[in-house]
Amino acid sequence: MAKNEMWGGRFDAGPSAIMERINTSVYFDRHLFAQDIAGSKAHAQMLVAQGIIETADGDAIQQGLDQILAEIEGGNFEFKSALEDIHLNIESRLRELIGDKAGRLHTGRSRNDQVATDFRLWVRDAIDALDTQLQSLQVALIDVSERHFDTLLPGFTHLQPAQPVTFGHHLLAYVEMVGRDRDRFADCRKRVNECPLGAAALAGTSFPIDRDATASALGFDRPMRNSMDAVSARDFAIEFLSAASISAVHLSRFAEEIILWNSPQFGFISLSDAFSTGSSIMPQKRNPDAAELVRGKSGRILGALHGLMVVMKGLPLAYAKDLQEDKEPVFDAADSLSLAIAALAGMASDMKINKRAMLASLASGFPTATDLADWLVRVLGLPFRDAHHATGQIVGLAEKKGCSLMDLSLEEMQTVENGITEDIYSVLTNEASTASRASFGGTSPECVLEAVAKAKERYL
Ligand code: ARG
Repeated sequence: MAKNEMWGGRFDAGPSAIMERINTSVYFDRHLFAQDIAGSKAHAQMLVAQGIIETADGDAIQQGLDQILAEIEGGNFEFKSALEDIHLNIESRLRELIGDKAGRLHTGRSRNDQVATDFRLWVRDAIDALDTQLQSLQVALIDVSERHFDTLLPGFTHLQPAQPVTFGHHLLAYVEMVGRDRDRFADCRKRVNECPLGAAALAGTSFPIDRDATASALGFDRPMRNSMDAVSARDFAIEFLSAASISAVHLSRFAEEIILWNSPQFGFISLSDAFSTGSSIMPQKRNPDAAELVRGKSGRILGALHGLMVVMKGLPLAYAKDLQEDKEPVFDAADSLSLAIAALAGMASDMKINKRAMLASLASGFPTATDLADWLVRVLGLPFRDAHHATGQIVGLAEKKGCSLMDLSLEEMQTVENGITEDIYSVLTNEASTASRASFGGTSPECVLEAVAKAKERYL
């Protein structure tokens, strides 16, 4: 094999085939082409401004890089795995286009600061794109919440009917989670947005470079303060994957609820053909595959986070080639999360809400038992613990009789607590129950409408 044309000066022979295969990264780091070219252009411009390279050479480099960008975007660029990575592929093509002048581009930098810069630019773009998508998911959820501000269904704890809630309130819980996901990405973005360029291999450079100029040309807030940290830190990527993992867990919980609600046993919602699949053997099936895949994708996103943390944990400063393993998990997690958000937003708008099934489900499980206990406290002055006990006995009566609390007669309830009056029935309906839960952050329809208005102000 021919020796490497980019760094092979001290080598007599080229790498073995297996060396080339384990070393090459261009099949995935080609995703960084736009960031790599932007970084090189900023660097070349700074080298000219600082008088480190000639203007004519700088101009040739800029034009060559623009042409390479057009070639890659147009699908007319041949990526070569023998040239290892995206950086050397681009630099080698630049040499083909402008000759030896291309060699001046790499003055005062190294692939170590170059790749760290490219990767930070890529993660920054990914955060911005994910934020827009998460906002669209919030829009879809807020829209359904507003339309179903007073639609009743059981709220569950332990997946047992607990108390009636409004569907709008239930969905707004996810709007809050997604809001925090967006905050986490925004916070992570601050630490992503510092520029490693100019740290060179690890120690800085003897050339009179201007790191503030390249940082600001690339939209970074500042150059990174320590050159060894700049080339070896990947906590920005770990933080991105952490934020992505937490978000994926939220999406997975919502997906799980869609799967439950869409099952014939719940029947609370149905997904249209657009988001369902059939079975190849059971003709009656309509499976919520998209929701299952959102739930499943969370597994690989969490895996990406753990994978990268393990790559990092034993690395001495500064750069080591292990760091090349940082990109695939991040690319994959970003793609998976983006797809999951899009699918969930699609399902949120697509799902048909079956109010009747939700209401029917409230007929079992005595979801207004707490309201009965609260009435005993409020009207009869019982200590809550005693009220809780008496209510438990009344629930027992209804259970034995096979009816709801509403269907018990006054006399039956009075056998447990003789102070109970007709007024008790006014708190036992599901409507009365939710209407009464008007404390801040509560489920009452009135609270939901307020929360919808606030969510629109805050997130849209
Ligand atoms: N492809 C490499 C990476 O992703 C670029 C940096 C290579 N640096 C080096 N000293 N070999 O990390």
